[in-house]
Amino acid sequence: MKFIPYGSQYIDSKDIQSVVKTLKKDKITTGSEVNKFEKKISAFLKCKYSTTCNSGTSALYLSLLAINVKKNDTIIMPTINFVSSYNLAKILGANIYLADVDKKTGQMSPKNVDECCKRFNIKKVKAIIIMYNSGYPQNAEKFIKLKKKFKCFLIEDACHAFGAEYKFKGSNLKIGSCVHSDISTFSMHPLKTITTGEGGIVTTNSKKLDEKIKKIRSLGIQKSNKKHWEYDVKYPGFNFRLNDFQCSLGISQLNKVKRFLKYRKKIADKYNKQLKNIPDIAIPIHLKEYISSNHLYLINLKIPNYKKKEKLIKYMLKNKIILQSHYIPIYKFNLYRGKQHLSYNTQIYYNSTISLPIYYNLSSKEQNYIINLINKFFKSIL
Ligand SMILES: Cc1ncc(COP(=O)(O)O)c(C=O)c1O
Repeated sequence: MKFIPYGSQYIDSKDIQSVVKTLKKDKITTGSEVNKFEKKISAFLKCKYSTTCNSGTSALYLSLLAINVKKNDTIIMPTINFVSSYNLAKILGANIYLADVDKKTGQMSPKNVDECCKRFNIKKVKAIIIMYNSGYPQNAEKFIKLKKKFKCFLIEDACHAFGAEYKFKGSNLKIGSCVHSDISTFSMHPLKTITTGEGGIVTTNSKKLDEKIKKIRSLGIQKSNKKHWEYDVKYPGFNFRLNDFQCSLGISQLNKVKRFLKYRKKIADKYNKQLKNIPDIAIPIHLKEYISSNHLYLINLKIPNYKKKEKLIKYMLKNKIILQSHYIPIYKFNLYRGKQHLSYNTQIYYNSTISLPIYYNLSSKEQNYIINLINKFFKSIL
């Protein structure tokens, strides 16, 4: 039996054909597929502008550069996060504060941001970066008040949340539509909703931000309209481009996105149904207003206990199932140890939360095997 990972990509013959087709074209980078993919992303998410780039990390970096984050600017983000946002803000010299999170979902709420501002006497904020841990877009519409209060930028690190939606005034809005934010960023790493191998997307409704993001993605170059050999440099930038065959893969993956999301939901529903009676654990309780992309499936130990969490991970590993912990709080890393943070709930979340396998290729038989083992584990430790 092969190991069952916590996440994996799904690539079919259509994906392969579309990549091969593009590889045979004259232009395999900066060609028409990039534009085509970006248009399709904008149509799917219902935003004005999309920019593809080579990773979720570069999507975040483009966002921070576009809003002009400088040395000593204040940025607030959650303690529970992949390390990209913190690293990038650090590189830019920002003054970073980590707000506490919900002890079950691992997500920062507007209240957590308020508490953080009070505790550290923060009066001026350049940007708040939200992260929808697991793809559940908790409070997506609620941060706008803070944006108005601080006149700051609101960036959604939506790397988990491609396809997630929230209800607002009777309609369903997609994360990435940027109705309640300035910028959203996505990753197309193989474990995410759709993949381009590696890849990222930035979305916005601001023409100004979009122009800047697109320029910085490509070394800040402004091409001349008249002479093809002439160009100017408008911003110091990078080569963060996604190439044409990756964009072809993205288009082909996007054609399957509804199927991907539906299947992920089916897996989550089955876990919910079959794990809900285990007394030691709590399954995720999602509000109707927030529709998850089900990037991760998180369970919480009812009594937080890091030793028990580790025991379960090791037990499952012995049985060839790889569980995961999303995430180690940022302030625990050697490099960032003890930096400005609030962490009462974070510690509870970290000691109690475990990710179970969830992905399109996970078979029903494999999921039954996982569920049976989890049941067995908790019966044996009672
Ligand atoms: C929340 C979050 N932010 C940022 C990233 C970075 O994305 P990438 O790996 O594509 O650079 C990830 C990827 O795992 C992520 O989960």
